[in-house]
Formats: sequence, C-alpha cells, structure tokens
Amino acid sequence: MDNTPPESSLEMLLNASQIAARIRELGAEISADYHGRTPHLVGVLKGAWIFMADLIRNLSVEATVDFLGIQSYVTGTTSSGEVKITKDLDVSIAGRDVLVVEDILDTGHTYHYLHGVLSAHQPKSLKLVTLLDKTGRRAVPVKADYVGFPIPDVFVVGYGLDYNQQFRRLPEVRCLRNAACV
Ligand code: IMP
Ligand code: MG
Repeated sequence: MDNTPPESSLEMLLNASQIAARIRELGAEISADYHGRTPHLVGVLKGAWIFMADLIRNLSVEATVDFLGIQSYVTGTTSSGEVKITKDLDVSIAGRDVLVVEDILDTGHTYHYLHGVLSAHQPKSLKLVTLLDKTGRRAVPVKADYVGFPIPDVFVVGYGLDYNQQFRRLPEVRCLRNAACV
C-alpha cells in the first residue's frame, strides 16, 4: 500500500536560499580548517549526494571524492542500527584526511557503524559534516564536526533526502507531517 503523502502537504522547513547560504559558510569553514591539505570527501549514498555536490563547489581547497553506499534498516521512520554496505570505497583512505559527508544525523546508529568501519582503515584524520542534525534523537553518542542545521524531531524530505525513495528532487527541505513542522 502506498501511503506517501502528496507533495502539496509537505511544509517547508529550509528553503533553497537558506540551504545555499549555510553551505557557503560551511565551505569557508572547512576550507580554512583544511588549509594546505587535500581532504578526501566520502559521501554516504544515497541521501548525501546533492549536499556533497553543492559543498565541494564551495571549497577553496582541492578535494578528492569517493562514495559509500549504505542501507540502514528502517522500521517506520526510525533506523534500527543495522547497516549494510551496498557500495564499498573505490580507493584506500589510509593516511588520508577523510571528511564523511552525511545528509542527516538522527539516532546516530549509522554513523557510529561507519566510524568503526572507516577508522579501521587508518585514515590520518576522520571528520564528519552533516547537513542536518536531529540532536534530540540521539541513541548513541555521535557528534558531527560540522553541522548545517540542527533540526527538531521531524521526518524531513527533499534536497536528497527521501521517504520511500521519493521527494529527493525537491530543492528545499520539507517536513513529512504538517503538525510536526515547527
Ligand atoms: P541514524 O542512523 O538514525 O542516525 O539515521 C541515519 C539515516 O536515516 C540517515 O542517513 C537517513 O538516511 C535516514 N534518516 C533519518 N532521519 C531522516 C529524515 O528525517 N528523513 C529522511 N531520512 C532520514
Ligand atoms: Mg543517509
């Protein structure tokens, strides 16, 4: 049964110009922190690719990219902590300044798992940038080094984020349920 809400019922949380402005700031901050180095951006598919495409165009330091495909097992709209890698990294991260690019931190289960997998490959440094952070939902202690926007406990879609694989194409971040959009 398809219980996907109609697009017209999705309320705006962050519009495209707010997102663009914040990504310019993040780009400047990250460029300053990695001055003289070449960070290796590891985008977590599928949700983070639109954010990563905009972020890298706001960096003034050279950067290389790779992608990690993961599937977080989700019950309803909450991840269980069970994570499966569906696409591994193409190149070694040993000795690299790795910056993981995530769309959203929720319970923290996914990144907690990824952090373990990635640090086992001995990067020189390992940091996380996430566009969105549901700080109040954390089930495991995970902290991002760079956060675009802290957001309340609402399920969001758009700008790469999906509900049942839908709404990734929206240029803004919207809430799935009207009532919860604050
Ligand atoms: P976590 O493991 O609970 O931190 O959540 C990880 C993943 O769940 C994210 O990378 C997203 O793919 C997905 N997720 C969590 N919250 C949302 C949301 O509000 N909208 C869309 N996807 C979400
Ligand atoms: Mg994700």
